[in-house]
Parts: sequence; C-alpha cells; structure tokens
Amino acid sequence: MKNIYLNIYKPNKKNLLKAKKNIESNNIIGMPTETVYGLAGNAYSNQSVKKIFTLKKRPNFNPLIIHYKNIKNLKKDAILNSSFTKLYKNFCPGPITFVLKKNPKSKISYKATARKNTIAVRFPKHRVARKLLGLLKVPLAAPSANIASRLSPTSSLDVVDEFKNKIKFILDGGRSRIGLESTIVDLTKNPKILRPGFITEEKISSILKKKIKIVKRKGQIKSPGQLKSHYSPGIPVKINAKIFGNNEAIIGYGKNFPTKKNYFNLSQNGNLNEAANNLYKTLRKIKNSGFKSIVVNKFPNIGIGKAINDRLIRASKK
Ligand code: TXA
Ligand code: MG
Repeated sequence: MKNIYLNIYKPNKKNLLKAKKNIESNNIIGMPTETVYGLAGNAYSNQSVKKIFTLKKRPNFNPLIIHYKNIKNLKKDAILNSSFTKLYKNFCPGPITFVLKKNPKSKISYKATARKNTIAVRFPKHRVARKLLGLLKVPLAAPSANIASRLSPTSSLDVVDEFKNKIKFILDGGRSRIGLESTIVDLTKNPKILRPGFITEEKISSILKKKIKIVKRKGQIKSPGQLKSHYSPGIPVKINAKIFGNNEAIIGYGKNFPTKKNYFNLSQNGNLNEAANNLYKTLRKIKNSGFKSIVVNKFPNIGIGKAINDRLIRASKK
C-alpha cells in the first residue's frame, strides 16, 4: 500500500541519513522510542530547541529530556553518581530518565534545561532511536511528540494526528512497545521518583537497596510533568463515575469487563503491561470517534498500575 502520509519515513539506511541531515540542519523530526514517540532536535542548538518549544506550545520553564546512545557521551554534560551508575547498569538502554546535576561546562542549550542546574537524561532502547543516535555527534533533546498537556503519541500516525504537516520528517518505528512515558527518577539528592512508569518503584528500590518513593504533587513542582492537568485526550475523563448515555465511552480491563458497544477493554486477560500499552492508543481512538466523555475505574495500584492511575488522574483534571 502506498504511504499517503508524505512525512512518514521508513527507517532504512537512506532515511536514517536524511534524519541525521535534518538534525544537523537544526530541523525537528519525529522519532520512535519504546515508550512514546519524541520530537527530536539537536540538544546543543538553541535554535533547534526553540523550535521544539514553539511546535509543542510548551511553557519555557518546562525542561526537555536529553537522549544519548550511551554513558560515554554523557560525562561532558552531567555529573554522574553511584545511584546513577547502578540504575544505568540494570535498566539502560531502557524506559527510565535520570535527573542529574548538570556539568557546568556542558554545551547543552540552556533553553533545553530551562536554565536549571540539573539535566534529565535518557538512553532509549528502540533500535531506530539508537541507530540515529549512533550516527550523530550530538545528543537529542526530545519531549513526547504531542501538543503540551495532550496525549503522548505511540505511533507515527499519532504524531501526524498531533502536528499534521508541521513536522516534515517522522521516522516510523512501529507502535511503541511500552506506550507510557519513561519513569523519571531524581538523583540530585535522595533518590525519588518524579513520574511513575514501566520501571517501577519496587524495581528501583531493589537496585538501590532502599525504599524509593514516588513524590506526591504537593509543594514545589520539581518536574512540570507533575503539573496536575496533563495527558488529556481533549474530552472529560471521569474516574469511578456513573455511566450515562450513548456519548460516553467506558474503559476497563480483564475478562469480566463487558463486551458491549462503547466499552473498551485495555487487556482481555488482565495484563497490566498490556493495559498500559493500550491506554493512550485507546484514549486517542475514543476522542477521534466523537465520544463526548470517558468513564474509567482506577486500576490496581501496584507495579505499572501506579503509572496508569497517575496518567488517568491527570487526564481527569481540568
Ligand atoms: O518516555 C519519555 O520520557 C519520552 C520519550 C520521547 O523519551 N519523553 C518525554 O518527554 O516524556 P516530556 O518532555 O514529555 O517529559 C519530560 C519530563 C517533563 O515532565 C519535564 O518536566 C521533566 O521531564 N524534566 C525534564 N528536565 C527536568 C529536570 N531537570 N528536573 C526535573 N524534571 C525534568
Ligand atoms: Mg510529554
């Protein structure tokens, strides 16, 4: 079948070189990762980073995650510590982001780190992202490829759904395997989790051999991804609410969840990883099918269930 989306490119050698050229010319491209798709640009270039903020309509106080192929290239931009080294050995490349102290000599655009003295870094596992990073001499600033406070994209078509032809070049890497944004762990002081994800607090705690907590959204906002209203499908999401009428979609999971019109099952066999993977895709589908609101029950608050509940609660905030 012919690809009618002229801005979506297969990740072959020729197109990876085109992607590299785009980055080197300070253009912004869509890039697959195993968590969600990113909007990637040269992290050393203020011009590139400015374009990312404008496209996403992102407030300039909200810093971006910087993507690297491996630890070698990181040392000139961040100050590493022992917790980082342990977690890196166990989980990287993979769906985890570390907040570290920024190396004062770093050439990372001050706009990318929102003038902070810390830097969020990640080593994506997706083979296309890794191939691209391997071709480049610069790290990639890459927030999720969605308009600020909307749903993250988990396929190249979702990136088109968000930006239409404003993004001229999107590398296709299939559906994101995880489908939720990376876990963010702050290692600048006592380790704590700023955003739950596929790498759970239990796993992180067991590697660091101490109890690491997910920080509540009280007090000062450390990570603006912690802003209450986020991950919104653009229609109201109601948690544990009564179900009304035809215009409402109902989300649930497991074999006992009704198979009726308007009912969307995130995992027939009750697998939470599968439910997480289907969450954004389903919310986007419901929104695009013309439903007026979504009703959902909270998921069990264990493992990745915490990340699902976190996104649902924020999607439900006005
Ligand atoms: O899975 C992911 O992490 C995806 C893919 C594309 O890698 N990226 C992603 O980026 O979710 P974004 O920009 O949508 O979310 C980054 C989060 C934001 O909540 C931001 O506030 C936080 O990381 N962040 C970035 N730098 C930070 C810092 N220095 N301190 C605390 N939080 C930071
Ligand atoms: Mg995002």
